[in-house]
Amino acid sequence: TPDLREMLLGRIKDVPDHPKPGVMFKDITPLLADAEAFSALTGALAELCVRYRADKVVGLEARGFILAAPVAVRAGLGFVPVRKAGKLPGATLGQSYDLEYGTAEIEIHADALAPGDRVMVIDDVLATGGTAEASLQLIRRAGGEIAGLAVLLELGFLDGRGKLAAELRDAPLEALITV
Ligand code: PRP
Ligand code: MG
Repeated sequence: TPDLREMLLGRIKDVPDHPKPGVMFKDITPLLADAEAFSALTGALAELCVRYRADKVVGLEARGFILAAPVAVRAGLGFVPVRKAGKLPGATLGQSYDLEYGTAEIEIHADALAPGDRVMVIDDVLATGGTAEASLQLIRRAGGEIAGLAVLLELGFLDGRGKLAAELRDAPLEALITV
């Protein structure tokens, strides 16, 4: 709704030149610190889990964890972490993706999903779509189906949505705010 959007957007702070010159960082910490806004945010994301009949909530380290864990609790679902490489203790599946300079890798526990589990993937920001694309690939390789991908904020000018189109297949991409 427009009211929710305004409440959320008003609590995301633009920080110029962070973490490096030319980048406008979207700081969600003022939103997280506001009990009413944080609750409205996690409630809206939990509703999406219900709408798309998710069985599990996956959060993307690190900022995605902050949203996905309370969303899982509110939706009555289990939480599964997708972590940066080298952090998970068990047998893992890994997926590399391109950064502006170089590459990164994320991992999921190989046994984290039951075959056919419908997964809602949650992150704070969709920028180029590289992180989200790698997570969708990982979840499918781990035996899951994609119930949807939900983010707080989509940076439309970077067209992550376009990059993700093939990997999403018919799954929905929901952004509470697009700028
Ligand atoms: C940020 C953000 C998203 C990702 C979006 O995470 O939280 O996960 O970048 O960018 P992309 O669409 O271009 O992949 P980052 O890797 O900076 O780290 P953090 O979440 O651990 O802070
Ligand atoms: Mg992140």
